Amino acid sequence: MTEAWHRQTNRRRGVIQGIAVLPQGLEEIGAEELVNLGAKQVQPLRRAAAFEADMACLYRLHLQCRYPFRFLREVARFPCHDRESLYFGIQNALEWERWLHPSMSFRVDVSGSNPGLSHSHYTALQVKNAVVDLQRNLWGERSSIDLDEPDLSLHVHLSRQEARLSLDGSGGSLHRRGYRSAMGLAPLKENLAAGLVRLSGWDGSIPLVDPLCGSGTLLIEAASWALSQAPGLHRSFALEGWADFNAELWEEEQRRAQAREQPTRTLPILLGCEQNPDVVEQARHNVQAAGLSGAITIQAGDFRALELPSGPGVLVCNPPYGERIGERDELEQLYSDLGAMVKERCSGWSLWLLSGNPELTGALRMKASRRVPVSNGGIDCRWLHYEIR
Ligand SMILES: C[S@@+](CC[C@H](N)C(=O)[O-])C[C@H]1O[C@@H](n2cnc3c(N)ncnc32)[C@H](O)[C@@H]1O
Repeated sequence: MTEAWHRQTNRRRGVIQGIAVLPQGLEEIGAEELVNLGAKQVQPLRRAAAFEADMACLYRLHLQCRYPFRFLREVARFPCHDRESLYFGIQNALEWERWLHPSMSFRVDVSGSNPGLSHSHYTALQVKNAVVDLQRNLWGERSSIDLDEPDLSLHVHLSRQEARLSLDGSGGSLHRRGYRSAMGLAPLKENLAAGLVRLSGWDGSIPLVDPLCGSGTLLIEAASWALSQAPGLHRSFALEGWADFNAELWEEEQRRAQAREQPTRTLPILLGCEQNPDVVEQARHNVQAAGLSGAITIQAGDFRALELPSGPGVLVCNPPYGERIGERDELEQLYSDLGAMVKERCSGWSLWLLSGNPELTGALRMKASRRVPVSNGGIDCRWLHYEIR
């Protein structure tokens, strides 16, 4: 069976070929999550995972997945080697009269390249022209472009003389859960924070402490996972405006996601510490907005004076590493004091630290037993694990 035949048969049967776009380093756990939520043929790729799903499953993934930035639903694939084949391929790729009325806005993103189409900006313009020219022929008017909140978000991937047209179901990136209006200094993206907690192996049964918690993202994502909260229940999605949107099926998946939540589950202590009073306020605000006031305590002050719950437990943290905030000498002292504190007071605990600067991490004077490469907003980082004896 050829790949093309498999794809066509799938499309006839209502099987969707999808891509989950993931942060670097979360590909394996991202793929695992897709499988657990019912996706088929899941294959981890670089910064992504490919999968197959029916519509109910695609809705479920949007509502419940914690790690992806977005999901791309493939709607067409066609040979494409130059401007012309792209232009006409796009016009024939979708029933545009159903999917994009001129009253709707859209945006185009492009990845990959072909020998004849090597500039993604130029390729995106060509795709836009193909769509608006067709609209003008049909209706005498065209859609406007909206980069922030488009009604339809198109993604074109070029590779090996082929173009793939996909629809982005999320609208705005899925890391925006809706609870974090206040962001602190150098916050982690919510999906990356969720993945880091998952990689730490914290299972929701022992205390979790973030001694430098900023806006509280690691703790919020940990509690949300432990209570099986669905990250997508309190936001909207571009897929709700798709021509084939099935409101009944969507509501069924929303009910299903809600039913999984365990709001009464008793959690161990989840404690954050933050020295900047404004950021403390923001963290408390975020915790409340996430519906987790009873589950997480944010303490104001310096971590050096933090009283730890009786352990053993897990420490997670993302200390400043100089790229964005903080000064070098002060930071060396901070890492050195953090190392001293955990060695003195956290025997039997486990420490996971996001490092963006190996020299600073050296000041901990501890040896990591695991190093997971991850990208934090384009900065090459390591999620480091230390067993404290
Ligand atoms: C990189 S940020 C953490 C971001 C956090 N993971 C988030 O997602 O918002 C580091 C935080 O450590 C705080 N911090 C720095 N020195 C501290 C200290 N001695 N005690 C407690 N907090 C400190 C900073 O104010 C900052 O908010």
